[in-house]
Amino acid sequence: MDTTVYLDYAATTPTDQRVVEAMLPFFTERYGNANSLYRLGRDAARALEGAREQVASSIGAAAPEEVFFTSGGTESDNTALIGLATAGGRSSGHVIVSEFEHHAVLEPAAWLGKHGFEVTELAPRPDGAVHPDDLAAALRDDTVLVSVMHGNNEIGTVQPIAELARVTHERGALFHTDAAQTLGKIDLDVVALGVDAASFSGHKVYGPKGTGALYLKRGVRLAPYLMGGGQESRRRSGTQNVAGNVGFATALALMDAERQAEVPRLTALRDRLVERLTGAIEFAQLNAADAPERLPHIANFVIPGVEGEAMLLHLDAAGIAVSTGSACSSGSLKPSHVLLSIGCPVEFAHGSLRVSLGRFTTEANVDYLVEQLVPIVDRLRSMNPLYAKTVAALRGATH
Ligand SMILES: Cc1ncc(COP(=O)(O)O)c(C=O)c1O
Repeated sequence: MDTTVYLDYAATTPTDQRVVEAMLPFFTERYGNANSLYRLGRDAARALEGAREQVASSIGAAAPEEVFFTSGGTESDNTALIGLATAGGRSSGHVIVSEFEHHAVLEPAAWLGKHGFEVTELAPRPDGAVHPDDLAAALRDDTVLVSVMHGNNEIGTVQPIAELARVTHERGALFHTDAAQTLGKIDLDVVALGVDAASFSGHKVYGPKGTGALYLKRGVRLAPYLMGGGQESRRRSGTQNVAGNVGFATALALMDAERQAEVPRLTALRDRLVERLTGAIEFAQLNAADAPERLPHIANFVIPGVEGEAMLLHLDAAGIAVSTGSACSSGSLKPSHVLLSIGCPVEFAHGSLRVSLGRFTTEANVDYLVEQLVPIVDRLRSMNPLYAKTVAALRGATH
């Protein structure tokens, strides 16, 4: 199979050719270190600052100095969680994260939990949203930091960040959001959202892998995670990735220019997919179908009676790239923590399929997926000795 129907844009995106072209000179001719004082260095610094201005303007930051470049979403999340919690030498306090955060937030939160902090994992509701009332009830006088993601990477639900940040500030804590999945995809304005910090990733927006940024509102203190030469205003040491950041900024400018047309196009494709897939496969359901707001490019299905990994591998054989929440790690199939957090039963969480659409997705791609998936699911269900029981239970539940 030489052509892959790529339907995993939430995992990563191809670097846009226009982005590659914008980056190329910075590998060969304009290769200066942005911290060097001579002409070659000043040229690199100008390009870097131009990239910073672009990112700041795309996210609605009040000033470019509020943006610093990192190696991606994971580094931004780690820096925010640990750097905000431990700023000023603080070594204890209460931290709240939602249960369905990316592991790039959950893991540093767990680290804080082992190093003097108390951590609450807040459950979203079954509609796939973290509700401000639930957050208000979890906040304490000693809460120092709250982190709730903007758009969920598995189920695509968008969180009411402005309201969550407001509730958090009423209790005097800082608010961080992981916006890796929303950047460029929907309108995003950090000032309107009212957040103190936000994480972004370049490779989700047709930029290069290993690029990203952390927005930090002016005046918010942060203990740096990487120490050394003091680059990025001492907040992130290390010689800057000029080519990468130029690429990230170029990618973002393209997202901004194309978003108005792209959002309705992707929304229509997503809705076509949901309608066709749930119409063609018995008991298939869209997860978090009642979400108040969802991303245009992500749809997550539960398909009872099949293992996500088996579906994924059969689809791969048909040249289709999708994702499943269950990941085979250390020999055990773990159901998605995101699906469990919204109340999806464990046995169904094993059969989840995430389809994420992007710039090169067509109606034909979506239809091809459904066409290929129907016989795969039939075959897998016919091989599953427990499926008859599942059907009886599902029929019982619907009557
Ligand atoms: C919500 C979310 N946060 C963080 C990350 C990590 O970003 P990166 O791959 O740039 O480290 C991802 C990417 O999978 C993501 O979807």
